[in-house]
Amino acid sequence: LAVAVAVAVASVEFVEAAAAAAITRRDFPEEFVFGAGSSAFQVEGAWDEDGKKPSIWDTYVHGGYAPNHATADVAADQYHKYKACFLSLNSDRATWWSGGGEQIGLWRFSIAWPRIIPDGRGAVNPKGLEYYNNLIDELLSYGIQPHATIYHFDLPQALQDEYDGLLSPRFIDDYTAFAEVCFQSFGDRVKHWTTLNEPNIEPLGGYDLGFLPPRRCSSPFGENCAGGNSTTEPYIVAHHLLLAHASAVSLYRDKYQAGQGGQIGLALLAFWFEPSTQKPQDVAAAKRMTDFFVGWFMHPLVYGDYPSVMRRNAGSKLPTLTAEESMRVRGSFDFMGVNHYGAVYVEADLSQLNQTQRDYSGDIAAKLAESPFQSSGNQLEKLNVYVSLSKIKQLSLRLQTDKAAWTLQKLLDYVKVKYRNPPVVIYENGAGHAADPSGGLVYDDDFRTQCLQVYIEATLLSIRNGSNVHGYFVWSFMDVFELLSGYNYQFGLYGVDFSDEGRTRYARHSARWYAGFLHGGELRP
Ligand code: NOJ
Repeated sequence: LAVAVAVAVASVEFVEAAAAAAITRRDFPEEFVFGAGSSAFQVEGAWDEDGKKPSIWDTYVHGGYAPNHATADVAADQYHKYKACFLSLNSDRATWWSGGGEQIGLWRFSIAWPRIIPDGRGAVNPKGLEYYNNLIDELLSYGIQPHATIYHFDLPQALQDEYDGLLSPRFIDDYTAFAEVCFQSFGDRVKHWTTLNEPNIEPLGGYDLGFLPPRRCSSPFGENCAGGNSTTEPYIVAHHLLLAHASAVSLYRDKYQAGQGGQIGLALLAFWFEPSTQKPQDVAAAKRMTDFFVGWFMHPLVYGDYPSVMRRNAGSKLPTLTAEESMRVRGSFDFMGVNHYGAVYVEADLSQLNQTQRDYSGDIAAKLAESPFQSSGNQLEKLNVYVSLSKIKQLSLRLQTDKAAWTLQKLLDYVKVKYRNPPVVIYENGAGHAADPSGGLVYDDDFRTQCLQVYIEATLLSIRNGSNVHGYFVWSFMDVFELLSGYNYQFGLYGVDFSDEGRTRYARHSARWYAGFLHGGELRP
């Protein structure tokens, strides 16, 4: 949810330039991959076609909760234009996708559960299978390896209605059955599986702060809140997501992996949490926040249990893993996906914020301060997170462009040291900008190019520093329905003209630069 992030505040460390020598793709390990991504709900459209039923996101946008009451009913119309999508990039395709037989661009996409199993469980929709079979075949015909996410937030509404979706342990079996349909139907061609996208934001956004579906929250900030209990539900939801992930991985490993020869992992939203000052209480708060956000999943995945600071602070609100569950969760990944959008600054005491910082922090910061961290009592009560909102995005993007790479280096170093240097794929990184209010096409996105340059350089520096990083994916390949801001905010290397019925795609400067880099050009030509 990078739109909410953009980064603020002073205390910035500068990354040292990797070397005076120009960086090219050849500086990365030979097997290192680059790509770009999107997700089903955000690009496909065709929300009720060919047997697809609503997801909780369809319900949310139809309820008018997105800015300007935007929906993703059509979005970038990828459902109808997946071929045209590649063909319309024809002039760029040669540079983007392939160079002399060498594969240079990979595609990350997600599979819409309510398109494949419209009621959440039971009957499989042949038209849904057909769409993804066609998409995958189309990608492979260009030599593009598909990286498939099984679940990217779009839970079938039927399961929400029937048993409150993620709040019920029944989710685990239904998710596993859906994952099995994916392995069976697409696993002959898909060799890179992500079980869940950002399971660490869904419990907070959907069950605490209420700004994501199903809008559950009990904080005073949740004016549109659909009920709920913020003090317990996020932990329960996260627990079910963790177990569902582990269950799908066990299934894949037991029945499919040997025959299909693929890899499986998950993708976490991983900000770097930086203390806003070097005061011990702020340093401690930033560490706690990291455990509560990244460690919430990474810790059990590597060590088989939640971080002890979570247990200390959340007590019995945090579910317990049985010995059997712990064994199943531990090591249940071939790679760890990391979605990184910069730093979030942490300060231990809200009252210490000065007025400027308060302005930067905005509503979301206030809401985050009311998150489970608050409800878990004692020192977490005063935890505050600065997250700048779009009102200062120009400033923040400038900061991000010039200085933000250290956030990724620190994060990757932390993961290396604390989590035994797991194989990492950076599955999302990128920068958004406000859409032209009059709907004009935005070609000039040099800020995005600069941002990607510093992050790609940071990735290389981290690899040289011993981090086990295997891939880097830009978010997003083309403009999407952005989760918190609809069409007001654009992330694409390729733009989409949403005012045009044909949803014309066009290459931004950043797309041409990325293609050039992947073709062997210099990182900073
Ligand atoms: C997080 C999510 O995976 C994706 O759906 C979203 O559009 C981006 N990051 C940007 O906010």
